This record gives sequence, C-alpha cells and structure tokens, in this order.
Amino acid sequence: MSLPLLNTIKSRWRRPWRYSQIFWLVIRMKPRKIMEIGTWTGDRALTMIKLAKGYRRQKEIDYYGFDLFEEMTQERYSEEISKWPPAQAEAQAKLSATGINIHLFQGDTMKTLPQEVPALPKMDLIFIDGGHSLETSANDWQWASRLMHEKTVVIFDDYWSDRTDAGCKVTVDSLDRTKYSVTLWPLVDKFKKTAFGPLKIKLAKVTKR
Ligand SMILES: C[S@@+](CC[C@H](N)C(=O)[O-])C[C@H]1O[C@@H](n2cnc3c(N)ncnc32)[C@H](O)[C@@H]1O
Repeated sequence: MSLPLLNTIKSRWRRPWRYSQIFWLVIRMKPRKIMEIGTWTGDRALTMIKLAKGYRRQKEIDYYGFDLFEEMTQERYSEEISKWPPAQAEAQAKLSATGINIHLFQGDTMKTLPQEVPALPKMDLIFIDGGHSLETSANDWQWASRLMHEKTVVIFDDYWSDRTDAGCKVTVDSLDRTKYSVTLWPLVDKFKKTAFGPLKIKLAKVTKR
C-alpha cells in the first residue's frame, strides 16, 4: 500500500468507528462506480474516492451522489431525522477537485431515483445513507437494488438495533435471505445522548446470493 493511501486511512481512523469498515471495503474492492444516497458535505465520498484512486486511474472512477441539497426544508429535516446539507455547488466543487467523474442529483430520492436509475450503469459499491424515514429507506433500497450486478456491495448506514420507527432496520430485516446475503458489521457506534435518545448504530452489508 502506498504512503499517501496509508496516510488517508490513518487520518480517517477515528470516531465514528463504523465508517472505517467502508474504507477497508473500498481498498479490497477497488470500485470503479460508487453511488451514495445522502452525499451531505461530500466528506465521506472524498475519503472513498481518495482510496479508490490509489488503485484506479481517476477517469476510470465515477461517483453518483443523491441529496436534497438546497431542497432541504425544516419539515423534511424532521421527517428524515436528517443532517442539514450544504448547497450542491459546494459539494460539487469539493468532489470535482478529485479529478474523477462526479454526477450529483438534487432532490427528494422519491422523485430523483425513479427518474435517474433507468439511465444509470450498474454500480460496484452503493452506500445508502439518505433520509431515515421508513418510506424513504424502502424507496432508496428499491431503486438502488436495480443497480446491483453480481458482485455489487450495498452498505446501509443507520441500522438502529433498538428502533423500528426509523432508520434502515425495517428495510434490511425484510430482505429475502434466499436472494440476498445480509451481514451486520461488527463495529458499533454508541451514543448516549442524541436528539432522539440513546442510539446504537451499525452498518449493514448486502450482496446478491
Ligand atoms: C446523514 S446525512 C449523509 C451523510 C453522508 N453519507 C456521510 O457519510 O457523510 C443524510 C443526507 O441525506 C439527505 N437526505 C435526507 N432525506 C433525503 C431525501 N428524502 N432525498 C434525498 N436526500 C435526502 C440529507 O440532505 C443529508 O445530506
């Protein structure tokens, strides 16, 4: 492993711990096509891209990001138990500086995914981390799963073991285990105080059988 790559990992190996599992996955998979639902500031994307660039020429890599960006409202923010996103141009500038191909889609994934998915290629890595309402989580999986090839890995953030009213637990637990292999990754982040009480957060990994 090259020194810049090692430094990227070292600088990112900090709380929340669970994301380090995604970074190791990127190193193992060397993905060309990365999709993230919930780009937010683009910082997680930036780390994934830097790691992927350690193994691929930059023009070989595509990042597809979906977010509300400026369309976030106070109402959506509460419904989706969300974080407040920056403007799309801010995320675009940060990610474009990596030199890879960046494709950002602004709007509610209830609308943007049905619009865009039919024209998108199959993805190697899909990170689902957008809205946390049960409806949005189910919608995001329904559309993202159409972009899976035989070796695609889908990672869900926000598997909240103790909550079934939001987060991805309901969607993940409902997946057909004869079609999909589902693993809850071992690193768990525990928060005593959040706006919605104590939380234990895991990542769920889904692949085709
Ligand atoms: C938790 S943040 C994503 C964090 C990011 N994936 C990371 O790891 O740094 C959730 C993001 O999803 C976006 N979001 C929430 N609900 C959405 C929806 N219905 N459609 C599109 N984006 C949504 C928010 O604007 C926010 O930027």
